[in-house]
Amino acid sequence: MSDRLFIFDTTLRDGEQVPGCQLNTVEKVEVAKRLEELGVDVIEAGFPVSSPGDFNSVVEISKAVTWPVICALTRAVENDIRVAAESLQYAKRKRIHTGIGTSDPHIRYKFNSTREEILERAVACVAYAKKYVEDVQFYAEDAGRTDNEYLARVVEAVIKAGATVINIPDTTGYCLPQDFGAKIRYLMENVKGIDKVTIATHCHNDLGMATANTVSGVLNGARQAEVTINGIGERAGNTSLEEVVMTFKSHKELGIETNINSTKICGISRLVSSLMNMPVQPNKAIVGRNAFAHSSGIHQDGVLKNRESYEIIDPKDVGLDENSIVLTARSGRAALKHRMHVLGVDLTGEALDKAYEAFLRLADSKKEINDDDVLMLAGEHRKSSRRLKLDYLQVTSGVGVKSVAAVGLNIAGEKFEASATGNGPVDAAITAIKQIIRRQMQLKEFLIQAMSRGSNDMGKVHMTVEYDGNNYYGFSANTDIVAASAEAFIDAINKFSEL
Ligand code: KIV
Ligand code: ZN
Repeated sequence: MSDRLFIFDTTLRDGEQVPGCQLNTVEKVEVAKRLEELGVDVIEAGFPVSSPGDFNSVVEISKAVTWPVICALTRAVENDIRVAAESLQYAKRKRIHTGIGTSDPHIRYKFNSTREEILERAVACVAYAKKYVEDVQFYAEDAGRTDNEYLARVVEAVIKAGATVINIPDTTGYCLPQDFGAKIRYLMENVKGIDKVTIATHCHNDLGMATANTVSGVLNGARQAEVTINGIGERAGNTSLEEVVMTFKSHKELGIETNINSTKICGISRLVSSLMNMPVQPNKAIVGRNAFAHSSGIHQDGVLKNRESYEIIDPKDVGLDENSIVLTARSGRAALKHRMHVLGVDLTGEALDKAYEAFLRLADSKKEINDDDVLMLAGEHRKSSRRLKLDYLQVTSGVGVKSVAAVGLNIAGEKFEASATGNGPVDAAITAIKQIIRRQMQLKEFLIQAMSRGSNDMGKVHMTVEYDGNNYYGFSANTDIVAASAEAFIDAINKFSEL
């Protein structure tokens, strides 16, 4: 008999905290519905007190999702808990996730407090949350660096106060797998009442051991794994859902089962990557572009004779469709709609029309349209409501001449034009845009990436622009990288010009 491992997805909370990855409510609801289809048990939908946008997203996700528990994060602060409870009013199954830092560095430097005082605050926040919901999850922030004896005292006390799930985060990604496993084992063996609650792991990937630590925690008694799609999250990220799920699916002898429909993994991975403009590294386990690509002759020969000679996972099990139709300029709207659906995006009506028009334009300049292109096209309709749009861009550049750019912008329906020179075509285009916008802004980061291969391929541009002390993220993809750069710059400006 297998034991059930609950999957708690925090893509929309811990994952979304990554600078530049912010989603709006509509996008969050889209991801939440896909998470439900994927079969996650709990969706951490946000940190409601942090902003009206986060509050609203928890409300809308609660309305849109039926089966998974909807969870809202709080600090050990009464107002946070009241606001979280209000945001969860429409959830069919709800949970408040409250807690406090328990490691000595957190107690001393973050709270300027003592272990006894922190223990009291931990108990008080759980007791307070219990007034609003039955299901209360407690997190001991930085549990990875918390003394085990003290951690056990805190955990025992919050269980007495009514906590139903105890989260043991390795907040800084410091633990080694055997130490993290031993910590969970210690709690299992030394805390009264631990058999009445679920222990959760929440590992960060600073040393690249988030998945190993999670697996070790589960093998020592944890029965909830906190994860994100593609492992996105603060700094080096969180434990990735796909790695944990496929580890236990591939190692049946471990006797751990999840409710995840693994064939949906690649679809949601691409959707999240595309909505958050967060590329997946090509060699990322399970969902990277190269995860199932065999390039060496010996490997190719082996796989052709028998897939299992070099593959431990059947690509179909994670939703990789080997026979995926290649889209070209002759493909119809239905083929595009179908491919988008397979990739996790459902467009209809005007949004589909716009995506199809953009598809035809792209297919004219590029023979075959791949999945990354399709996901980029799926985001096209979101751009149409933006205040600032690029009307035209003309650049001349070459060796031994100065680059010159002429730019036309449409700002809320009004047309503006400017031209400028620069030390390259991108510099010239950006200088021309700045002449129209005339705000004190500074380009902080600028990354150009080829999307897959071939000189006719799309280039992706990621940019960070500083304005008024804040950083704004911009993204675009285009077969012309100068145009992609100008569009990414405009994308970033749109984010603060609406403020
Ligand atoms: O990493 C962490 O400790 C967290 C908690 C808020 C659960 O994200
Ligand atoms: Zn975290």
